[in-house]
Amino acid sequence: MSKLTVNGKPHDVMSPGDTPLLWVLRDELGMTGTKFGCGRGLCGSCTVLANGEAVRSCSTALADAAGKKITTIEGLSKDGTHPLQKAWVAENVPQCGYCQAGQIMNAAGLLLKTKHPTDAQIDDAMGGNLCRCGTYQRIRRAIHRAAGEAAVAEMLVPGDISLIAALAAAQGGEV
Ligand code: FES
Ligand code: FES
Repeated sequence: MSKLTVNGKPHDVMSPGDTPLLWVLRDELGMTGTKFGCGRGLCGSCTVLANGEAVRSCSTALADAAGKKITTIEGLSKDGTHPLQKAWVAENVPQCGYCQAGQIMNAAGLLLKTKHPTDAQIDDAMGGNLCRCGTYQRIRRAIHRAAGEAAVAEMLVPGDISLIAALAAAQGGEV
């Protein structure tokens, strides 16, 4: 049994330690917002945050995730009011939508590190998140919009206050 904290809530999970985090989230915890794409760390559709860092959950073993604060798309907000979700709606980003949970979580990881990213920084950070519908320009606009409208403290769920404090310290105390 492993202990896994997801979206501020602790869980005892029974999957073996070498199980990819993606399948623990989807199959054991029933959080199906995180999507399976390639299963090999190449597409980004399975992206979640681990201690505020964007990681590929298909390529992260449960044993490596245990003890970290995991944030999934379900943890951003229950009602679509997270700054990134609002920006995604305002910019009408999704087409089929399949890649978008991973896109948003990768963007969350970017904005926690870099408050106001340039186009080049966005392209660099988001380049590994593939979208077969080609929504890249709208994703870029939505990230700029969220960066302009939200403080870092709004970027994670309330249960992750300690993480927010650590990230704020890393950014010189600005939240
Ligand atoms: S499913 Fe994880 S990177 Fe593609
Ligand atoms: S919106 Fe269809 S794959 Fe990205």
